Amino acid sequence: MAALEKIHILKFRNLSDQYFTPDKATNLILGKNGQGKTNLIESLYYLGHGRSFKTKNLKDIVPFDDHQIQITAIVDGQKISLNKTRDKSQVVVDGKKISSNSFLSQLLPIQIISPDRGFVVGGVPKLKRSYLDWGVYHDNENTLKTYAAFKKTLKNINTLLNNGEQTQLDEWLVFLATLSVEITKDRFAYIASLSTVLKENKSKEFASLVESPFDFIFKLQTGWPKEIDPLNEQKIISYLLNSKKTLMKTKHLNSGPHRANIDFSLDGQGENYLSRGEQKKMSFVFWMLQVLELVKNKKKPIVLIDDISSELDEIKIKSIIDFLTDIEVQIFMTDIGNNKLPLKEEKSTSFSIENGVITRF
Ligand SMILES: Nc1ncnc2c1ncn2[C@@H]1O[C@H](COP(=O)(O)OP(=O)(O)OP(=O)(O)O)[C@@H](O)[C@H]1O
Ligand SMILES: [Mg+2]
Repeated sequence: MAALEKIHILKFRNLSDQYFTPDKATNLILGKNGQGKTNLIESLYYLGHGRSFKTKNLKDIVPFDDHQIQITAIVDGQKISLNKTRDKSQVVVDGKKISSNSFLSQLLPIQIISPDRGFVVGGVPKLKRSYLDWGVYHDNENTLKTYAAFKKTLKNINTLLNNGEQTQLDEWLVFLATLSVEITKDRFAYIASLSTVLKENKSKEFASLVESPFDFIFKLQTGWPKEIDPLNEQKIISYLLNSKKTLMKTKHLNSGPHRANIDFSLDGQGENYLSRGEQKKMSFVFWMLQVLELVKNKKKPIVLIDDISSELDEIKIKSIIDFLTDIEVQIFMTDIGNNKLPLKEEKSTSFSIENGVITRF
């Protein structure tokens, strides 16, 4: 089980240089607007992913009067140190430098739900793919190589198209088709596992979160035109080779796994017809399914929930907290603190955050 035992935030946005010893179970961080709640959640996410969910620019997150970010933590007895400047990025685990962020996310699988990241139901395709691929990766770590190869292949194809070059284009398109089938297979398999988890837990875990009975459907759109069988490599190859003229005109490949999407619906209503509260509630369900799937595979993520009580009523909050407490994952959640949250006292610790300083209540 992944758990953060000790955290030392040295430099990250407005957070002060401080040590923070979290609870193994639930950590509630309370603070008024602008005190650093989201910054703290972002710093923990950063530790597990080597990047932010809010920005691509390092300069946004280095403290205003500094030029680097620095966080250190003990995770299951191992020390992780992350140090980034504009020119240098260094991640050290137990004294050894590591070069890939995927190693970090294996060590520290972090799953987040935050209004600043956006909610997956009703969200943009890019966000949906990021939720999807996080799960696919944790289900099967080998997929990472396929994704990396796909990214490189796509880049090469787009460069050729952009330069109007045809040499080697066919070879790259054929290779892309092969990789695409692998990625799509994994994505279908993952979505199918989530549907199974939903079926198995529908009445138990979700009954108080969603007024039962409910019919929640998530469907993968593979990114290829509807008439093409996304699992048939030969069909994709013919499609791509036959579309070369158009591709040369558009100068980039605008179909394929990089354009995949998930369509959500609740009780027959498409996601765009759902209210914001309903979208948020179903985003929590999807997120919980992802957590359950991971737990089923004997991995325990650390979960981050920013602004838990905005848009969710007390019953829903209680069912989410009960669910997470039951499966015994470490939780970091923030709240503005207007209402008392239904926490199990023996399994939780509350902190306040003010001006970037975290204090135990
Ligand atoms: N790079 C940075 N260096 C220093 N301070 C920063 C930096 N980036 C953001 N801040 C400041 O951090 C403060 C806290 O932001 P944060 O988003 O964490 O607040 P919050 O507690 O989540 O508030 P809310 O309840 O409104 O969501 C903001 O006042 C912001 O100006
Ligand atoms: Mg915030």
